[in-house]
Amino acid sequence: MSANVVINDVGPRDGLQNQPVSLAPAERVELINALLKAGVEHIEVGSFVSPKAVPAMVGTDIILHSLTGKQGEFSVLVPNMKGYELAVAAGASCVAMVLYGTDAMAQANVNMNRADAEQAMEQILQKAATDGVRVLATIAVSWECPFEGPVAKQTVAGIARRFVGLGVDQVVLADSIGAANPQQVRDLTTMLVNEHGAQRLACHFHDTRAMGLANVFAALESGIRFFDASIGGLGGCPFAPGATGNVATEDVVMMLEQMGYDTGIDLQELMNASALAGRLTNNAPGGRAKAWLVGQLNQKTEAQDHLHG
Ligand code: COA
Ligand code: ZN
Repeated sequence: MSANVVINDVGPRDGLQNQPVSLAPAERVELINALLKAGVEHIEVGSFVSPKAVPAMVGTDIILHSLTGKQGEFSVLVPNMKGYELAVAAGASCVAMVLYGTDAMAQANVNMNRADAEQAMEQILQKAATDGVRVLATIAVSWECPFEGPVAKQTVAGIARRFVGLGVDQVVLADSIGAANPQQVRDLTTMLVNEHGAQRLACHFHDTRAMGLANVFAALESGIRFFDASIGGLGGCPFAPGATGNVATEDVVMMLEQMGYDTGIDLQELMNASALAGRLTNNAPGGRAKAWLVGQLNQKTEAQDHLHG
């Protein structure tokens, strides 16, 4: 079996926004370049948010400029119209806007209720259509909210229906705190794939309860072929208590490739990017298969040295 699965690495945004130490734009670009070298062509490279709310994302404009002309889809997260305008002024051609499964999560993240956040996103979408900007709509807390608890499938389906109707390019179902289990993922993804088709949908999992990979598998079985993941398992949202890192890109790529899917990503180069994420942040757990993957790649390098020596 060979089918394409697209991995969108959100480490440079979801991962780096939450570090105790902010990286310099040049270091963030170094990490993005390492991902590109590994063949990761979809990357969320930063966000245009209040510098008071998330100081680590200051300089995302510099990052976009330094990627000019490079092959890939570079998205940036925008929480409001001001963020959208700054993103477009910096040359963004794809924005990830955020919708919310609950009022409390919207309030914690952007100081608005859910309806006001949706209205702001609708205005962004209208502007993006005339600007020719691609829009991804992430629905935060699609399964469970750290403040309000479980989120009903019908709520998420209603938001997805409204925004697909308004013309978003893709709806990203986000388990922002890593609380969903594979059965819940299967339930929501089959329902939404039936309604919208798999091409319109993507999933974003955190690995807080070690169910990240199982959740990717459940969504894959529903037909979903687009996944967010984060290099080195970096991640977590400062406004969603209890969230740990995203499911690690290297774990997802390893699983998919071993199952016969094609991600277009070179695992050896990806492990170099993961090691770089570790050196830059001093805080990247690495994927759950890290020890095994590093061992495999060392063996391969030794065999090559032997051949050439
Ligand atoms: N980018 C940069 N600055 C922004 C901005 C943006 N997208 N939106 C607002 N600001 C600035 C305003 O100009 C204002 O600046 P000032 O204090 O110098 O006048 C300040 O931020 C406060 O603006 P206000 O509209 O009153 O916002 P707020 O204090 O209610 O905060 C958000 C709302 C959305 C700006 C803020 O909560 C935010 O940036 N959240 C993003 C959170 C995030 O990134 N979460 C993780 C990803 S899901
Ligand atoms: Zn996240």
